[in-house]
Amino acid sequence: MSNNLLKGKRGIVFGALDERSIAWKVALKAKGQGASLTLTNAPIALRMGAIERLAGQCGAEVIPADATSVGDLENLFSKSVEILGGKLDFVLHSIGMSPNVRKNKEYAGLNYDWMLKTMDISAISFHKVMAVAEKQDAMNEWGSILALTYIAAQRTFPDYSDMAQAKAMLESIARSYGERFARLKKVRVNTISQSPTMTTAGSGVPGFDVFMDYAGKMSPLGNASADACADYCVSMFSDLTKMVTMQNLMHDGGFSSSGITAGVIEQMKK
Ligand SMILES: NC(=O)c1ccc[n+]([C@@H]2O[C@H](COP(=O)([O-])OP(=O)(O)OC[C@H]3O[C@@H](n4cnc5c(N)ncnc54)[C@H](O)[C@@H]3O)[C@@H](O)[C@H]2O)c1
Repeated sequence: MSNNLLKGKRGIVFGALDERSIAWKVALKAKGQGASLTLTNAPIALRMGAIERLAGQCGAEVIPADATSVGDLENLFSKSVEILGGKLDFVLHSIGMSPNVRKNKEYAGLNYDWMLKTMDISAISFHKVMAVAEKQDAMNEWGSILALTYIAAQRTFPDYSDMAQAKAMLESIARSYGERFARLKKVRVNTISQSPTMTTAGSGVPGFDVFMDYAGKMSPLGNASADACADYCVSMFSDLTKMVTMQNLMHDGGFSSSGITAGVIEQMKK
């Protein structure tokens, strides 16, 4: 159902890799709510080709950009403004990758070059995105910029490894840049802390299915789906949430406020 919540709004969606990606669902829902958008991903991810299908469904152009490259981001923002015919109202940063997680490195034996790569891709890229948007004056007043994060920024989840540090930095960047962008341009910046979700990035974490099951039982409403996360992103891009900024917003079915739940107690009794 469309309420045209994003009618006339323009934006960039980073990170749609395949149908399971949270960004994929955000792009479809934003389009369904009346937005026009461009899609982007790292050149290597674009080679898989799935994004072209999404582009067709959204009537969107795909502009390659490695989010760690300021040059690529400059090209992305200037082309997006040109193609969409004006400044932007929303940006979704839906990017995460750790070579240490991917290669199953023990936490004590992290490869530090890879750790720097984790930080650059998963956190510093968010700063680069906003710095380019600011430099090009590419955002409209009251625009909304979002990044997706995970509660491992605040609590330990051992298999999440150096991504925990990356998410802590990402959330901190959202606060620091949120203060700046509010002051300069009345643009809001937030992170959404999403439940574990079965996507390519999610399922790269060892033991993810067991973990999802546990998180679901520890969340009174159950795990939030990618679809529900996309709905929340759309509401955060809309004019209904204009005064929300510099927040880490929990979208987790109640996980973050639960000490123990009836679901876990039931399981322990078995
Ligand atoms: N899946 C989960 O359980 C979960 C939970 C909380 C938060 N998140 C976060 O949600 C976001 C989206 O992840 P997802 O679960 O949809 O998985 P996904 O694998 O579909 O998306 C991750 C995206 O990051 C992109 N990416 C990696 N390196 C890049 C680079 N250098 N430049 C540009 N893009 C790059 C990938 O190509 C991919 O499209 C990530 O920030 C992730 O950490 C995921």
